[in-house]
Amino acid sequence: MRVVGKVAAVAMMAGLGIAGSVHAADDPITTRQDIMSSVGAAAGLGGGMMKGQVEYSPVAGKAAIAAMNAAAVSFGSFFPASSDQGDTGALPAIWDNADGFAAELAKFSAATGKAMEASGKDGPADLDAFKAAMGPIFGTCKSCHETYRKKN
Ligand code: HEC
Repeated sequence: MRVVGKVAAVAMMAGLGIAGSVHAADDPITTRQDIMSSVGAAAGLGGGMMKGQVEYSPVAGKAAIAAMNAAAVSFGSFFPASSDQGDTGALPAIWDNADGFAAELAKFSAATGKAMEASGKDGPADLDAFKAAMGPIFGTCKSCHETYRKKN
């Protein structure tokens, strides 16, 4: 049971894009977009469970939280000065107001770090525990996107 759970978690992480999220360092735009795609996938899984569209399991809950946390701690490293131009959804405000962007990143990683702690070794025990851990993470998407991401 325990081994099966672990395998499922790793498989899911790969499916969420973590394994494929590292590109050459000279392509920061694609890298950060891949990281955000993994956030989108984790949000889809987490949101699906929160809405009851996907059956909750602690392993899946933990995988969604771990994917969010991996993204939160790495995302900020892929905004070198030269990467404000090109095929990117990032707004110039990221570079014009670097402190403000850093504050949004800090909120994001604080929420994911807390959720990691709350999920423990085996993942949040039930859906209520998962919602309590994931809710604050979802709260950070909008406030960052509003100011720092182009509207599509
Ligand atoms: C600290 C700021 C920040 C936070 C927090 C944040 N995002 Fe983003 N997100 C961005 C930026 C900036 C982009 C545009 C990146 C680019 O195109 O270079 C983006 C892009 C995306 C994309 C498009 C990725 C692609 O393939 O181009 C998705 C999906 C996404 N975010 C989902 C989310 C979700 C869901 C959350 C919350 C769980 C979230 N984001 C939290 C800043 C943030």
